[in-house]
Amino acid sequence: MQRAKRLDLIPPYLFGEIARLKKQAIDAGRDLVDLGIGDPDQPTPAPIVEKLYEFAQNPDTHRYDESNAGDPSFLNAAAQWFHKRFGVSLNAETELLLLIGSKEGLAHLCWAFVDPGDYTLVPDPNYTVPKVNTLLAGGTPYPMPLLAENKFLPDLTAIPSDIAAKSKVLFLNYPHNPTGATATPEFFADVVAFAKQYDLLVCHDCAYSEVGYDGYHAPSILQTPGAMDVAIETHSLSKTLNMTGWRIGFAAGNADAIAALNKLKSNVDSKQFAAIDRAAGWALLNANNDATLALYKKRRDILVDGLNSLGWNLHKPEAAFYIWVPCPPGYTSMTFAKALLEAGVLAIPGLGYGDHGDGYVRMSLTLTGDRDGERVAEAVRRIKEHVPIVW
Ligand SMILES: Cc1ncc(COP(=O)(O)O)c(C=O)c1O
Repeated sequence: MQRAKRLDLIPPYLFGEIARLKKQAIDAGRDLVDLGIGDPDQPTPAPIVEKLYEFAQNPDTHRYDESNAGDPSFLNAAAQWFHKRFGVSLNAETELLLLIGSKEGLAHLCWAFVDPGDYTLVPDPNYTVPKVNTLLAGGTPYPMPLLAENKFLPDLTAIPSDIAAKSKVLFLNYPHNPTGATATPEFFADVVAFAKQYDLLVCHDCAYSEVGYDGYHAPSILQTPGAMDVAIETHSLSKTLNMTGWRIGFAAGNADAIAALNKLKSNVDSKQFAAIDRAAGWALLNANNDATLALYKKRRDILVDGLNSLGWNLHKPEAAFYIWVPCPPGYTSMTFAKALLEAGVLAIPGLGYGDHGDGYVRMSLTLTGDRDGERVAEAVRRIKEHVPIVW
């Protein structure tokens, strides 16, 4: 048996060593405060689960979905939600496409747009799916460094023009995993102008659009004048309504890009269980996740205030559920993550998100078993007592 050589293009799993140490600690019966996983710990709001039960009892939902781009009730709900939330009108038949989660959409977008020899522009650090699928499709991901001094926005003027000319897709993600950074309408306007200059598709991953604090509401790139000419945006119910396991999201934007992605997908998958689509459509228009957001905010405040009392100078992110923590002097992201693990706190080394993630660890606010911030406070106590830090 010989597997495809392209699998060798997948970069080594950088979290392997941390996963091994985590297992060792758990096997030894040690209690870990797990700030590693970025997956809502709270359940899906109960009314959405009840809707799923109701729709699952309708035999119509048990068969293949033979619609063009996804269950129309879901796409119509997505269009209504998009208009209410962002003031952008979308044609549910040509400018929206059901996704089996945004990971699926981002991955297949690479296969629909990248030929061998093409480049894509990918943020560094970033969620790894755009980079890895560019590689699998035979392309070259060109890293756009996200630096603290630029508020973790890429410097478009630093991209060499020959690279931009060879590129097909510019990937973005705001609110951003792992840095928690947000984008401004001015930045999106620069991106749209850049994409027009170089004939690029912009793919904006908006998975955290509804995870905001203190009145912050993330913008959509599709609100930018001219964006519908060059951009597609992926949305997901995963983080919005604690529905990661349901696998449901949508792509919105430029009709040609939607059609290209749909052409690829219709030869790969057969859409989603229609009962899930219908429950998700209902959820977009009727549910909210305010209680979960209040809990994340409480954890955020305890963690950031606690780390700042130990010598950090962190600001509180206004969106997403990650704290991007610079390593203290003398540590790399890997050695600091190991020191934290020895103290009973699990965080993800930033290097796993790209070379420019080295020097940071990511702490997630979605920790299982925390009712009211007490486990986050415990993490701060362990760092204070057991991790050697000299500023
Ligand atoms: C930035 C980003 N995009 C996309 C995803 C995938 O989300 P989904 O569950 O919609 O596939 C994640 C999941 O962690 C993420 O962090």
